[in-house]
Formats: sequence, structure tokens, C-alpha cells
Amino acid sequence: MKLPLEHPIFEILAAIAADQNTEAYVIGGYVRDLLLGRSSKDIDIVVHGSGIGLAEETARQLGNLHVSVFKNFGTAMFRYKGMEIEFVGARKESYRANSRKPIVEEGTIDDDQKRRDFTINALAISLNRHDYGTLIDPFGGLVHLEQRIIKTPLEPGITFSDDPLRMMRAIRFASQLNFTIEENTLKGIREQRHRISIVSGERIMDEFNKIMLSPEPSRGIRLLDETGLLELFFPELTDLKGVENINGIKHKDNFYHTLTVLDTLSLYSQELWLRWAALLHDIGKPATKKYIKGQGWTFYGHNHVGERMVAKIFNRLRLPQNEKMKYVQKLVNLHMRPIVLAEETVTDSAVRRLLFDAGNDIDDLMTLAEADITSKNEEKVKRFLENFRIVRQKLREVEEKDSIRNFQPPISGEEIIATFSLPPCKAIGDIKNAIKEAILDGIIGNNYEEARTYMFKVAEEMGIPPSE
Ligand code: CTP
Repeated sequence: MKLPLEHPIFEILAAIAADQNTEAYVIGGYVRDLLLGRSSKDIDIVVHGSGIGLAEETARQLGNLHVSVFKNFGTAMFRYKGMEIEFVGARKESYRANSRKPIVEEGTIDDDQKRRDFTINALAISLNRHDYGTLIDPFGGLVHLEQRIIKTPLEPGITFSDDPLRMMRAIRFASQLNFTIEENTLKGIREQRHRISIVSGERIMDEFNKIMLSPEPSRGIRLLDETGLLELFFPELTDLKGVENINGIKHKDNFYHTLTVLDTLSLYSQELWLRWAALLHDIGKPATKKYIKGQGWTFYGHNHVGERMVAKIFNRLRLPQNEKMKYVQKLVNLHMRPIVLAEETVTDSAVRRLLFDAGNDIDDLMTLAEADITSKNEEKVKRFLENFRIVRQKLREVEEKDSIRNFQPPISGEEIIATFSLPPCKAIGDIKNAIKEAILDGIIGNNYEEARTYMFKVAEEMGIPPSE
């Protein structure tokens, strides 16, 4: 089977490889994505002999492009017409009688294909004169693409012990592409799962985040759970599992609830960190769960406990410790607020306070809170959604009138000090706070004039006269 190779680099590479009397092939993700009709950002080239040599000569002929060379890995890379072109020499592994550790040495394209992770990633296309454009498919990768199957080219035990990250990759591809992992490959993951401990947190999270960004993230997370990987690197999530029953009163299974919330939210948002907020919104529930007679199951303060757990989880999993984490913490903390609001009469003042606390993240918070409604009771869901519509409308009204979203105190501490000739003292903060509360309660508008008048009133009540 011949495939069309559209990028101009392929013809150029073919000519130079022929000149150098070597063989070159396109391999891996580019070929897979070409057959799937997906776009790619990088092109991997395997070369018989030195990948670095072909990369350097090609870059020279293209006008001395900059080549990054990684001598230790025998790889080289340059950018050309929007693509990262990566070169590697074909390798094979051989075993010596006195050692179980393989020696990696030069090999052919077949040797190299055997060392790849999955049959769909082991597909190659020839760049050689005699069979240019021919698909080389020793493990049935093309059929597996059609059948939507993830399968290792060799015995799964060999492929996974070569690089245990591939267990994460199998699940990531299944989730991203909506593929099924072949039974024996899945069994291999279960058997080898403990080997994940030798993989760095960053690499695990790169794959996990790709699962999080896939169309239906629960597919990947369920596979992680079923293979036993999830509890090894993310026990807080598996701790959400289970339903307890006391005197016939049960609570919902928070693991499956979380997955539903995450999938629902993913229909509306591609934002990684909003999806993380959905994943972790109830993470504080196991630690706060209590059965109270007459009330049933309670999870008081699970949002605060959850907020603290986010920091620990982000730290352990080597996720960013910056404003992304603070954003997730904030949403986890506030996630129930819109629902609580929607359960009561929606007052302007409550809406203003929500807007004040959420700031610019209000829309994301509303998206999360709406996805959090997973009740099977249709009447209840209808009522919530109607109340949410009201909350959203009120948010717009209050925002137009009071612009609370980016609240800046209309009266500064300096102005209070100057007006009343105060030394540094608690009263300054009290006056400032009283003004803020009055704005949030709708007693005064969010503007300078009303705030200044109110400042004199509060100060007078506190027995503080203005200076002359
Ligand atoms: N590969 C592998 N084992 C790994 C990582 C990569 O065998 N642990 C091989 C696969 O053949 C893969 C190729 O290297 O197709 C390129 O890897 P990479 O760029 O990480 O992934 P892609 O398959 O290109 O997919 P994506 O771009 O979605 O990450």
C-alpha cells in the first residue's frame, strides 16, 4: 500500500538518503495520524546508520537550519515549515549470555519497529527510491487502526518492561482516540502496574493530562482504575469509591459521581485546569464523611479540606505550584456556592457576594456547579437548572449595576487615615470593611461618592470625628 506524503521534507530526505546510500523511513505518530486523518506537529524519521548524519546534511542543504543534536541518545532535530523533524538511527536490542540487561546497537527498520510501543505506532513509510511511500506494517497496525485497537507489537510484558510509561500511554491513546485496549495488552498492564513506580511524576502527569483533555476523560480514568494503576499514583481518587449504608440510608459513590461531573463539564470546556477542578471538587469528602442520626450522611467542610488537599496533590504529582493550582483550589472551595444559592431565594446580595468571591472565575465556577448536578430525580434537576438560569441572569444584572467582579475598595486606607487623622489602628480596617460589606449588601452602590458618605456615617457611629 502506498501513501501520499505531502510535506516537502519527504522528497528532500529521500534524495539525500539516496545520496548517502542509506535508508530512511517515516515512523510512529505521524504515520498513525496520517492514516487517521489527524494533523501532527512532528515527524519522526528512522535511519539505517546515523540519524544525526542525515539530519545535519539535510539541514545544511535547506540553508543551514539550526540542528539540535542529542549525542547521548543518537538523535537530532530541526524545525522546517511548521514541523519538528526528529531523526534517530534504527536500533536493536541484543542479549549477552552473561547479562539480562540488553545492549542497544545499530539495527534495521524491522528491529526498530519491534521496539515501539504499539502496533499503530510501529507503522512506517519508506522514503527509499525503490519503494517510496510504501507502508511497512509488520504487526497489523493498519487493521488495528481500523478496528480501533491498542496492542503491543511484542509480548506486553516485554514492551512494558522496556518502558513502563507505555502503560499510561496505552490508556492515554485509548481515551484520546476512543480505542479499546486488546485483552492481552490490558492483562500486561495489570501484571506490570507496579513498575510505574520507576517513572517520574512529570512523565506520568504528561500522559494523565492528555487523558484529562480527551473528549471523555472518564474512559481513561476508568481504565487506570481497572488496571490498578490509579491507586498507585492517585490514591485520593480511588478513596472516593464506595457506598456506605446505615439503616438503609446510603450516600452516592463519589468516584463515579466525580467521573460524571468531569465528563459533563468536558462537553462545555476544553480548559485543563477547570477539568482538574471538576476532578477534585469532592476530593475532601472521604475525610469529612460522617453519619449523623436524623440527618444522614454529611460531608461538612469538604470544600475546605478539599482545597488543602489540592496543594498536597499538586505537590506530590509535580503539577504546577502557581496560579493554576490556586485557581483549582478556589473552585474546589467555592464549588457548592452556586447550588446553595440556587436552593434559596436568589437575592441580589447573595449574588454580589458570590461574584466578589469568585471574581473573574465566576463563569468557570457556574460551569462546574452546573455539571455537578447529577441527580437522577428529573424534577430536582429541572428546578436546579431553572434556578441556575436565574442566578446567571442576576449575575449579569448585578454586574452591570455594581461591577463587583474586580472589586477594588472605593475608599483607600490612606484616605481614611487622612480624613480622620488616625494613627495606624484597627479602626481603619473596620471602616474599610464596613464600606465593603455595605456595598455587597446593596446598602450603597459601588462608587466613590456613596462610599465616602457612608465612611463618615460609620466613623460617627464608632465615635471617630473627622479632622478639621
Ligand atoms: N514511542 C515508544 N515508546 C514510548 C514513547 C514513544 O515506542 N514510551 C515511539 C512510538 O512509536 C511513538 C513515537 O515513539 O509513535 C513518537 O512518540 P511521541 O512523539 O511521544 O508520541 P506520538 O506517538 O507521536 O503521539 P503524540 O504526539 O500524541 O504524543
